[in-house]
Amino acid sequence: MKPLGLGILGSGKGSNCRAILESIRAGTLPAAARIVISDVFDAQILEIAREFSVSNVYLPPGQFRTRLDLEAETELVRMLRDAEVELVVLAGFMRVLKAPMLEAFPRQIINIHPSLLPTFPGLEAWKQALAAGETITGCTVHYVDEKIDHGDIIAQREVPILPNDSAETLHARIQIAEHELYPEVIAQLCGQRSSSPRSGF
Ligand code: GRF
Repeated sequence: MKPLGLGILGSGKGSNCRAILESIRAGTLPAAARIVISDVFDAQILEIAREFSVSNVYLPPGQFRTRLDLEAETELVRMLRDAEVELVVLAGFMRVLKAPMLEAFPRQIINIHPSLLPTFPGLEAWKQALAAGETITGCTVHYVDEKIDHGDIIAQREVPILPNDSAETLHARIQIAEHELYPEVIAQLCGQRSSSPRSGF
């Protein structure tokens, strides 16, 4: 079976990207990371790509703070297509994707978010869960649509909130769950692609 071509986008430390690349290397994820792209020049995620010998690119985002400008987003589509990417994996990518990407990759862009969506979308979701006095939170993998942390949910994993949790300890526990869940979900999507070659990808 041909491995599923992944394009991974991130703005930060890239621990989810590392988990995905490690799963590919371990043979538990039948995918191929074709390219890693970041809107942040010195993001650690690009360093991780280099460590795994994956093609990596800094994409200058343009003039806006929360999205790419049209030129940059068009360039992003071009780079992903040139790299023969079939599934776009957002791993801490801090910009909202707009029509160029959503139309080029319909139902082929996924994201991971550190809460049990639809509860606590937005930034620092683990802090929101702590402040709300929840006893359980978690992480969610979902398809990306035009709204932030929205889109059909593919899978979720619960994480308990412990009485002595700080924002840091809770976030660390959620990230451990993310690092298990994200590669598992991508593997599941690889399986769906091979059983139904014309759906989705
Ligand atoms: C993750 O917690 C993810 O849920 C959120 O951004 C964070 C990225 O972390 N969307 P990392 O860069 O993968 O370590």
